[in-house]
Amino acid sequence: MKNVTINQQILPALGIGTWEMGENPQTFNTEIAAIRTALDAGLRVIDTAEMYGNGQAERLVGQAIQSYERSQLFIISKVLPQNASARKMRRSLAASLKRLRTDYLDLYLYHWRGSVPLAETIATLQALQDEGKIRAWGVSNFDLEDMQELWQLPQGNNVAVNEDLYNLETRGIEYSLLPWQKQHQIPLIAYSPLGRGPILGNKMAQNPAVIKVAQKHQATVYQILLAWVIQQPQILAIPKSSSPKHWQDNLQALQIKLAPADLKILEQAYPKPEHKEPLAIY
Ligand SMILES: NC(=O)c1ccc[n+]([C@@H]2O[C@H](COP(=O)([O-])OP(=O)(O)OC[C@H]3O[C@@H](n4cnc5c(N)ncnc54)[C@H](OP(=O)(O)O)[C@@H]3O)[C@@H](O)[C@H]2O)c1
Repeated sequence: MKNVTINQQILPALGIGTWEMGENPQTFNTEIAAIRTALDAGLRVIDTAEMYGNGQAERLVGQAIQSYERSQLFIISKVLPQNASARKMRRSLAASLKRLRTDYLDLYLYHWRGSVPLAETIATLQALQDEGKIRAWGVSNFDLEDMQELWQLPQGNNVAVNEDLYNLETRGIEYSLLPWQKQHQIPLIAYSPLGRGPILGNKMAQNPAVIKVAQKHQATVYQILLAWVIQQPQILAIPKSSSPKHWQDNLQALQIKLAPADLKILEQAYPKPEHKEPLAIY
C-alpha cells in the first residue's frame, strides 16, 4: 500500500474528502457508510472544514468515527480566513472539535489566505499546537510566493503540509511549487484529485488516454486518476465520495503501480507545465 508521512505519522496515501457531504438528511446514512467503508479498509485520514455545509460535514464525520479508535484516525479540519485571527481562531477550533466529537485535531489548516496578517495566523496556529489542541498545522491554497513568505516567519518552517488543487489535468504546481515543497520536505495534500468528477462533467474520465491505461490495468478510470496523483512520493490524495461502492472502487488505487509507458500515455494527453501558471483554486 502506498504511504505518505505527515508529522511523523505513516499514513495510506489516500484520505477521505468530505466537501458537500452531511448536508442532506436523506443521504446521511449512506454517507456515514461511505466513510466507514474507507476506514474499514484501512484509510486513516479524513479531510473536513468548518466551511463545509456550515459545520454539517464535521458533524457527519463526528458521527461516522464514533466506533473507531481515535488514535488510528488522522483528522484534518480548516479554519476560514475570516476566523484566522488570534481572537477568533480559538472559538472556531472549539466549535469544530465539538462537532467532530473529539478533543484534538491531527492537523489544522488555514483554508485560504484572507486579510488577517499571516504572522498572526501562524503564531496562533503554533500556540494551539503547543497547547496540544492540534497536533500539527498547515496551509491550503498557498502558491510558491505564499510558501516562501511563510517560511520567513517565526516558526513558519513548522508547517506540516500544503493542500492544493492537483490532478492529471491541473498540473500547474509541478512547475515550481512542488519542487520547492520537495526540497523543503513539505508533503502535498492533493484536493479534487478526480477533478470534481461528474460535477464538472467527467472530462478526464472520458479522455481516451485515461481509458486506455485503465483497460490495460483492468481498472476503472477513477482508479487510474487517483493512482496517477499518488504515484509521486509524499502526495496524499483526498477524493470525496458519498457512495460506499465508489469507495470500494477508489481504494484499489493504492495497489496500482503505473509503468513508465502508462505515464507517457497520460503525459501526452495532459502535458506537464512549461511555465509558471496561476495557482488553480476551487
Ligand atoms: N482545501 C481546499 O480549498 C479544498 C477545495 C476543494 C476540495 N477540498 C477537499 O478535497 C476533497 C475532494 O475534492 P472534491 O470533492 O472537490 O472532488 P473530487 O474528489 O475530485 O471528486 C468528487 C466527485 O467524484 C465522484 N466520485 C468519486 N469517486 C468516484 C468513483 N469511483 N466513480 C464515479 N464517481 C466518483 C463523487 O461522486 P460520488 O459522491 O457520487 O461518489 C464526486 O462527485 C473535498 O471533498 C475536500 O475534502 C479541499
